[in-house]
Amino acid sequence: MNHQGKLIVLEGIDGAGTTTQIERYAEHLRLANRTVHVTRQPSPGPIGTMLRQALGGRVAVGSEHHSEIMALLFAADRLDHLAREVDPWLREGAVVLCDRYDLSSIAYQTATAPAELLARVDFEGWVRSLNRFARRPDLTVVVDVTPELAEGRRASRAGKPDIYEYSDLQSRLAALYREAERLCPGDAIVHVDGDPSLDEVSARIRGILDPMVLGVR
Ligand SMILES: Nc1ncnc2c1ncn2[C@@H]1O[C@H](COP(=O)(O)OP(=O)(O)OP(=O)(O)O)[C@@H](O)[C@H]1O
Ligand SMILES: [Mg+2]
Repeated sequence: MNHQGKLIVLEGIDGAGTTTQIERYAEHLRLANRTVHVTRQPSPGPIGTMLRQALGGRVAVGSEHHSEIMALLFAADRLDHLAREVDPWLREGAVVLCDRYDLSSIAYQTATAPAELLARVDFEGWVRSLNRFARRPDLTVVVDVTPELAEGRRASRAGKPDIYEYSDLQSRLAALYREAERLCPGDAIVHVDGDPSLDEVSARIRGILDPMVLGVR
């Protein structure tokens, strides 16, 4: 059976569970014999690799214009990722499950921009416009989670926190994600409560996505 490609994005604060839920849903699709490709942003490409180094604090991005430079790099990585990896899979009819997209850019760059910059320019609109050539996802699933719960989950996993993983910022991000529809006007967005158990969240995600990607109800 010929399928149409679908771009499904999962979004949420750090520790919301997007990576775990994407892996679980991908396995569910494989068992249903649906072609699936799992990917993420920042991408595995050259700009995305540089961004991961910046997020890990291994390379410093100019302090005076940090937010602007990060927004530009994320937008450049997104177009590179689409051209190099996402679009070819979509043309093959795959379900592409992408961990983060431009909603992350709008939320994280706005939440970390200096107040003085936010007062002077429509920074959120500027970040949105940088991404105007990025195709819109068929659906964005926002996993909303209580910030303290996400913090506990992050603490229980291996690895050093990245430059955005501090509690004050994560609380502000959680509030921004609840307003995702305002940040990405016109996009197809659904919210899932990420606080319950992994199995419960997975079941809710399957309930939302299956009708769209498997055609079952
Ligand atoms: N609903 C849940 N209940 C309990 N534990 C969870 C739940 N969701 C995720 N976890 C656990 O929390 C940790 C973080 O999950 P995960 O790495 O999927 O989050 P993430 O949203 O991808 O984070 P990041 O944005 O930082 O990559 C993992 O150890 C995962 O098993
Ligand atoms: Mg993750």
